[in-house]
Amino acid sequence: MWYQTKASEMLGIEYPVLQGPFGGNLSSVELVSTVSNAGGLGGYGAYTLSPQEIIQIDQQIKAATNKPYNINLWVSDTDMQEDTLSDERFKQVRTLFKPYFDELGIPLPEKPPPFKSRFENQADVILHQKPPVFSFMFGIPSADILEQCHRLGIVTIGAATTLDEAIALESAGVDLIIASGFEAGGHRPSFLASAESSTIGTFALIQLIREKVKIPVIAAGGIANGKGVAAALALGADAVQIGTAFLACEESNATAIHKQMLFSEAARHTTLSRSFTGRLGRGIANRIAEELMYTENGFLPFPLQTQFMSHLRKEAIAQEKWDMIYFWGGQIAPVLKHTKAADLMKSIQEETTDYFDQQKK
Ligand SMILES: Cc1cc2nc3c(=O)[nH]c(=O)nc-3n(C[C@H](O)[C@H](O)[C@H](O)COP(=O)(O)O)c2cc1C
Repeated sequence: MWYQTKASEMLGIEYPVLQGPFGGNLSSVELVSTVSNAGGLGGYGAYTLSPQEIIQIDQQIKAATNKPYNINLWVSDTDMQEDTLSDERFKQVRTLFKPYFDELGIPLPEKPPPFKSRFENQADVILHQKPPVFSFMFGIPSADILEQCHRLGIVTIGAATTLDEAIALESAGVDLIIASGFEAGGHRPSFLASAESSTIGTFALIQLIREKVKIPVIAAGGIANGKGVAAALALGADAVQIGTAFLACEESNATAIHKQMLFSEAARHTTLSRSFTGRLGRGIANRIAEELMYTENGFLPFPLQTQFMSHLRKEAIAQEKWDMIYFWGGQIAPVLKHTKAADLMKSIQEETTDYFDQQKK
């Protein structure tokens, strides 16, 4: 059967369909458990959580499903090169964004304190809690962490946006690779070259990786239904990871207006922007993304830009200025149909099965 792949076997799941983890408080225990209970692999994006919060989430997921699930972290979670942000740089960013803060009638934020990476402490919790699967993006964990995962039976999945990154992940001993195509919603998880120069589409990327890498490849980006799953498998993928289509479901932690936007005409036009977090990510095009598209080095390093923009975001939501909010999502949004994760899983299984049955006739 189409669903018995190397990836489904390694992950211990019935269908090789992963629900993409969402960072920034957009994941939910309900979404993870619904997908895992339906035979896929639910995933929780935990990079913004404290170690204690990760323990609580892990316990809640374990109580909601006895099936495999995934917890996701960001290996590189800060772009602050030095400990401090220069006053000059901060002034430039304030000047760039002043018109938007003025429009909302709120003061510009003060300079944020330095940010210290949380990854090592978060990874300790992963080793302690032992989720069945640990996925990560923006880099490769240390050899020590990967070795401990193997020893503890935690399956590891790393994200690649280029063939070079896939080769690096395989060489480090990671178990499976996410081939993260340009179409995908959320951040571009590049770690060897700039995100701007790592913009390969999913279907090219799967094939490049398949040719040179032996471990299973999971296609992510632009897949939302059975036809997309069949196409990815035909091109050599062992599984798919679906983000935007699950983000739009009732069970995700996205706001009602975010879900509404994903189903609206506005979702026909997505863009890649650094304006909202300092790292390049795909969402529904809005005024700020468009006006600042060609601004180079005009943003704060990640995650300080996120903190800076959180003030604007909060007020824009209060004033319902939706053209200032970046609604994360991928290029496939205009074909979304389902609002319940179990229905989405069921229709993916049925459509993919139908597709492969047709091929046999
Ligand atoms: C809002 C949002 C947040 C995301 N956050 C993460 C994350 O924290 N970690 C991660 O590995 N992938 C993250 N992703 C990527 C998804 O897990 C998935 O790979 C991607 O959405 C697949 O492409 P699609 O959106 O075209 O389905 C995020 C995607 C979205 C849309």
